[in-house]
Amino acid sequence: MPTITCIEDLRLMAERRVPRMFYDYVDGGSWTESTYRANQAEFADIKLRQRVARNIENRSLKINSLGIDMAMPLAIAPTGLAGMVHADGEILAARAATAAGIRYTLSTVSICSIEDIADAIASPFWFQLYVMRDREFIGRLIDRAKAAGCDALVLTLDLQLSGQRHKDLKNGLSTPPRLTPANVLNLLSKPRWLKGMMCTRRHYFGNIMGHVKGVDDLRQLANWTYDQFDPRLNWDDIQWIKERWGGTLILKGILDVEDARMALASGADAIVVSNHGGRQLDGAASSISMLPAIAEAIGNRMEVWFDSGIRSGQDVIKALALGAKGAMLGRAHLYGLGAMGQAGVAKALEIIATEMDLTLALCGHTNVQDIDRSILLPGTYSQADWTCSELRREKTLA
Ligand code: LAC
Repeated sequence: MPTITCIEDLRLMAERRVPRMFYDYVDGGSWTESTYRANQAEFADIKLRQRVARNIENRSLKINSLGIDMAMPLAIAPTGLAGMVHADGEILAARAATAAGIRYTLSTVSICSIEDIADAIASPFWFQLYVMRDREFIGRLIDRAKAAGCDALVLTLDLQLSGQRHKDLKNGLSTPPRLTPANVLNLLSKPRWLKGMMCTRRHYFGNIMGHVKGVDDLRQLANWTYDQFDPRLNWDDIQWIKERWGGTLILKGILDVEDARMALASGADAIVVSNHGGRQLDGAASSISMLPAIAEAIGNRMEVWFDSGIRSGQDVIKALALGAKGAMLGRAHLYGLGAMGQAGVAKALEIIATEMDLTLALCGHTNVQDIDRSILLPGTYSQADWTCSELRREKTLA
């Protein structure tokens, strides 16, 4: 087996081991994937300041966010269908996150259920909520997350409708999946994946199946999910969700200063600056280019987290420098999961942690909490600065 040193190694291994339709679901973006590409490319444009001859012996990546002690400024992002990337995927990823001292976020459209995760790990996790038309179901889902001891609710706001992903349509990734001869052949050519799937009973949306009246088999599930994502979702809904939940509320999918202000006014505890990993509005700005303006508009009145485009510890450090409290890891952890299950997620987290630590040190710092813009070479985050100055001119940014 080749020595794994970076997230790209895990991606390549996952690409070989995970059936095409599920690998493409993870790795793809919407339409032309221009936003997907910009998310990563624009990180590369930002340059770090190398500093020397500073005592960097004792270093720390620890943070406290939302009252939670974390081993590093990282959380696992909610990702749909992780349990199809690897058998029992969400359970394995949650175990790896807990062992690494960070929070795992379970998606509404996960394969393993809220209760599965609560049974599998001793520490609390976060639950991500999609608002469906069936509000009674949403209410029950919130109650189940509460009963499972989740210590934050991550409400995703940028997927009232799904951005069109060409690869998913072509691959027949639907509920139920289209089992064309090509798909069946491809599934059969992934023996590790297949063996895992044959040994688990978890194959469908675990949070939904059996929890909605009349949704007990795949056909009924397909009919139900078809039109459940609710395009009517608006800021008024956030109030009742907030009340029903009664705990820490994180609003995910904010990419605009005005929306960030609305989120602040809603009384949420944090936002996640995100364009859903380039899976929703293709043509939208990269997530990292919008972070500085949003962080500046919010100041220290609410915590600002970040996702979309993180493939290394250096990316995390750059996001922190531009105003994020922490970063969520979506695809990077799924590559690890597809490559090697729990050990792969642990490896992904170890890679990111090592890169963060080394970057911090070579920039002349010892504590991740001290990171600010002074760690970056001025002028190299020009897109981000341009966004700030344009918004200032338009007076969107005070
Ligand atoms: C996606 C949703 C389910 O991006 O989060 O596919």
